[in-house]
Amino acid sequence: MSYQHLTVSVQDRIATLTVNRPDKLNALNAVVIGELGRAIDELVASEDVGAVILTGAGRAFVAGADIAELSAVSALEGRRLARRGQEIFRRFETSPKPTVAAVNGFALGGGCELAMACHVRVAAEGAKFGQPEVKLGLIPGYGGTQRLPRLVGRGRALQLLLTGEMIDAHEALRIGLVNRVVPGDQLLSAATSMIQQMLMNAPLALGACIDAVDRGLQMALDDALALEATQFAVLITTSDTAEGTRAFLEKRPPRFTGA
Ligand code: COA
Repeated sequence: MSYQHLTVSVQDRIATLTVNRPDKLNALNAVVIGELGRAIDELVASEDVGAVILTGAGRAFVAGADIAELSAVSALEGRRLARRGQEIFRRFETSPKPTVAAVNGFALGGGCELAMACHVRVAAEGAKFGQPEVKLGLIPGYGGTQRLPRLVGRGRALQLLLTGEMIDAHEALRIGLVNRVVPGDQLLSAATSMIQQMLMNAPLALGACIDAVDRGLQMALDDALALEATQFAVLITTSDTAEGTRAFLEKRPPRFTGA
């Protein structure tokens, strides 16, 4: 599949999806948003892909929604715009294959929201994060008001949302917005080695972890524990669990097949 503003490459079951609109700091216009949706669907469906790295070309990860598209939008269109972006970002969040944001530079507004929709975030030392929508008279529309407090807590989220300030990668690590910070030239190798570690594990178990965390966080604890037990029960009958337990007892690495 070909894209105007994305590049996709696959190596050793790891897909690297790069937002490639560097002259506009990879700002998310309607085309980019649509292409992100098509790309994640394609990668989730592909048998050659086990996990996805999402990054940006040039000096930005993504510098937000395309501000040029935000003026002269009716309330109805604004709602439609937000719902479309939310729905497409949600596909990254609910992908049964791990999605890792490799944040190479500015992750502002929709860029910070896109990174938060991925399962894990690795940041280059020079990366910058923020939700500056209030400076434009807006609030985040692609999940920022909901995912940021879930990641960093209500007080820190409200500080970022209300000031619109930019924070650096080390501050993002300190507050739990990112998982790891590495020198810029090691960003993709660090993201790749984290994913390689994930891909050594059983694929169905990866998907079940993602689903249990995602759906469980939206439930009362007792319901979420019941969901976990059901996922556990399904996995315990799989060939991969038989292989994983046998391999442990035979003191050899497991050979998982995803069945
Ligand atoms: N939407 C549309 N275009 C954007 C953009 C966005 N969110 N962010 C950057 N661009 C464009 C700029 O307009 C500029 O285009 P031009 O060269 O045609 O004038 C180009 O990208 C480079 O950006 P510039 O502002 O010149 O770079 P900078 O290094 O001076 O500043 C930022 C970098 C990220 C601080 C600044 O671009 C910025 O504040 N961007 C908007 C961030 C934002 O508010 N995002 C939330 C949107 S809801």
